[in-house]
Amino acid sequence: MKKSNYSSQSLKDKIVIVTGGNSGIGLYTVLDALHDGAYVVMASRSMQKAEEAKQFLATKTSVERLTILSLDVSSLSSVQTFVQTFLKTFQHVDILVNNAGIMFGDYHRTEDGFERQMATNHFGHFALTASLFPMMAKDARIIQVSSIAHKRAEMDLNQLAYEDGKGYTPWGAYSRSKLANLWFAFALADRLKAHNHTIKSLVVHPGVSKTNLFFKEKGKQPLYNLLKILMPLQSAEKGALPTLRAMHDVDARNGDFFGPEGLAEFGGKAVRVQASRLAQNRLLADQFFTLSETLTKTEFIF
Ligand SMILES: NC(=O)c1ccc[n+]([C@@H]2O[C@H](COP(=O)([O-])OP(=O)(O)OC[C@H]3O[C@@H](n4cnc5c(N)ncnc54)[C@H](OP(=O)(O)O)[C@@H]3O)[C@@H](O)[C@H]2O)c1
Repeated sequence: MKKSNYSSQSLKDKIVIVTGGNSGIGLYTVLDALHDGAYVVMASRSMQKAEEAKQFLATKTSVERLTILSLDVSSLSSVQTFVQTFLKTFQHVDILVNNAGIMFGDYHRTEDGFERQMATNHFGHFALTASLFPMMAKDARIIQVSSIAHKRAEMDLNQLAYEDGKGYTPWGAYSRSKLANLWFAFALADRLKAHNHTIKSLVVHPGVSKTNLFFKEKGKQPLYNLLKILMPLQSAEKGALPTLRAMHDVDARNGDFFGPEGLAEFGGKAVRVQASRLAQNRLLADQFFTLSETLTKTEFIF
């Protein structure tokens, strides 16, 4: 895979966790890390899909250093079970890629009371990161996988689960969850800096890539057919390039945001990109971080 527009660090012997590593962008992230000699934990909600993914990976590289662990990131209890299981084998984390995600779907609240897209795309990853934080290596990287969809997001911090019963749309909820990824990454970067940590909080978006993401809730969305036409734009492998840059770029800075350089940031080489004005609002990011600690009952110990 091309990573040639920056100086690349080796991942040899690093411990890398990729959530949703059995499919799409996560799968190519796992492949890259294995290929580079890392110990990789594929965190997957389906053991069957993870085993199928392992078979695919085995046709490309050695899978000796691959560990499959069960994680349903939409469930806080599953997150805690995952962390306990992880710690039976591993003592620290070098790179955490919070990649798992869902898009669209009808309104649904999870067992923890969160709206489903926000639970999967943000709250589970927030709790996972907080729980693993004490085990992060000094030069660890924590990577959120956001989306250009964040640019159209609106967020009412008092209605995170649409408690008033108004305003839920599949697109709106997805966009909001991807804004959450940026707020989390930026607020974490600020806190890491304030506490003189050398850990980096990074965030990426993959542009638009042909993955299963678009095909799970098919038929329900008016834009579905249009997206199907757009799909040939970029492969999942190319969509992984910003994540790969966040893992490898020796010059990556705490708080960096990487995405594709092409037209409308739909595809291309990974470069530094700009978040929306709302995403760059550090006051709201800070409030959202604190609220996420409260709602997930987890705390970052810096
Ligand atoms: N593809 C794009 O164009 C695009 C654009 C912008 C952002 N993104 C972001 O990229 C990330 C990866 O998506 P993708 O495009 O590679 O889609 P994908 O092929 O559908 O992969 C998503 C992964 O997340 C997993 N996942 C979903 N819900 C989960 C849960 N509750 N617990 C654990 N794992 C769960 C999926 O598991 P299953 O295989 O079991 O479903 C799958 O492994 C997402 O965060 C997405 O928002 C993608």
